[in-house]
Parts: sequence; C-alpha cells; structure tokens
Amino acid sequence: MIGFDRVTKSYDGGVRAVDELTLTIHPGEIFGFLGPNGAGKTTTIKMLVGLLRPDGGRITVSGVETLQDPLAAKRKIGYVPDQPEVYEKLTGLEYLNFIADVFLVGADARARAITRCLDQFELTDAAGDRIQSYSHGMRQKLLLTAALLHDPEVLVLDEPMVGLDPRSSHLLKEIMREHCGRGGTLFFSTHVLEVAEKLCDRVAIINRGRLIACGTMEELRADGRSLETIFLELTEK
Ligand SMILES: Nc1ncnc2c1ncn2[C@@H]1O[C@H](COP(=O)(O)OP(=O)(O)O)[C@@H](O)[C@H]1O
Ligand SMILES: [Mg+2]
Repeated sequence: MIGFDRVTKSYDGGVRAVDELTLTIHPGEIFGFLGPNGAGKTTTIKMLVGLLRPDGGRITVSGVETLQDPLAAKRKIGYVPDQPEVYEKLTGLEYLNFIADVFLVGADARARAITRCLDQFELTDAAGDRIQSYSHGMRQKLLLTAALLHDPEVLVLDEPMVGLDPRSSHLLKEIMREHCGRGGTLFFSTHVLEVAEKLCDRVAIINRGRLIACGTMEELRADGRSLETIFLELTEK
C-alpha cells in the first residue's frame, strides 16, 4: 500500500511542483499516474522513493512513514527511474550483485533471481559486458532486473515503457501484472494513454501539481468517452 497525504513540494521556493497531493494505492491494483510533461509525476515519485524531501505532508509505504523510517520504507520498494543512469564501468552482472548486496539479498535467492531476470529480458549474453556498451533499452531492462532482486512489495516505475522494444514492453506488462497478481503494489507514471487504458485498474491524473481526477477506467469513462478525450479536457489550460 502507498499513501500520499497532502504532500507538497516546491523547487527553490518556486511554484508548487506537487500541491497537496492525497492519494492511496492499494495492493493488487495496477495504478497508473498520468499527466502532461511537467505535471509533477517524477517529483511525486522521487519523494515516494526518498530522493526528494517533501515540504509538507506524509507518505507511507506499507504502513511505514518514509520520513520516520526511510530505510525500512526503501527496503519495501523496487524503483526504476525515468533516466537509466547506472555505473557505466561495471558489467551488468557486477551491477546486479552490487544492488543485491545493498538490499542484503542472500546468495541462493540472488543467483535464482539474477538468472531468471537476465534470461527473461534476454540479457544473459550481455551480462559480462560493461554497461557503457548497453543501449538505452538494455539499461532499462537491467535496472528493472535490479529493482526486482529483493522481491519488493511495492514496485515504482517512472515512465517504464519509454525506450523499450515491443517485445520487452510486452514482457514488462506481464511482470507488472504478475507483481500485482501476487498481491504487490504497483505505481507507475506514463504519458502514453494507450498503455494506461489497456493495463491499469485505476488511474490518477495530475496537472500542474494538482490531482484532477482519480478512479477506475470505468468510472472515468462513465459517459463512453475515451481516456484521451478526458485527459485533453482535464489538462486544458
Ligand atoms: N530539479 C528541479 N529544479 C527546479 N524545477 C524542477 C526540477 N525538477 C522538476 N522541476 C519542475 O517541477 C515541475 C514538475 O516536474 P516533474 O515532476 O519532472 O514533472 P513530470 O514528471 O510530470 O514531467 C515542472 O514545472 C518542472 O519544471
Ligand atoms: Mg517525469
């Protein structure tokens, strides 16, 4: 479970990038966080995963308040950022082992998870190569593999479909469904409405830092309009 309670953030005293956001994401639901460029999605996600400190409000991850016990909260989270920035000089395998060390994943579980994920994402052959030789999509798949190593309760993905080929993005959707099927919580941002429309149980739409809609696809589409129409109307200047 993820809870945002009146969460607010400004950069350098400017306008509020996130403005009094209140939102609950339940286990087992595929939750999409939608909004135009600059709406505040990444800022929200960075506060959730502990990379940015909210100016006000509370965030809880499976009952743990992120500011009260940041380490406990982080242990529950697997996170893939929008920019796949990784240590270029490490090989893929070295990077995965490093992340497994950070999250205290034991030898057996680690070997199993690494083998399975590399195989799933067709990265096995590249695992011994330095990350600097990886394409954007390969880096993203490596980060996803790393995020899943400690079997997190909560998966947080910032624009996960960007840069993935159709096969990988299909696989990612399966992984997302699987995660939720096992009772995990999934929170991901996207501006690709087709993805949200097909995949999500519930979505929230944020615009200029404010939550402007939240509900199931059926609720939002109550009068038969497409998500695109609703999105365009709601985010109009
Ligand atoms: N590091 C930063 N410093 C100053 N302003 C920022 C910074 N990061 C984001 N912003 C501003 O905060 C707002 C929300 O940005 P962001 O959370 O990245 O939106 P999204 O992910 O929805 O595209 C935008 O107006 C953006 O210009
Ligand atoms: Mg963003």
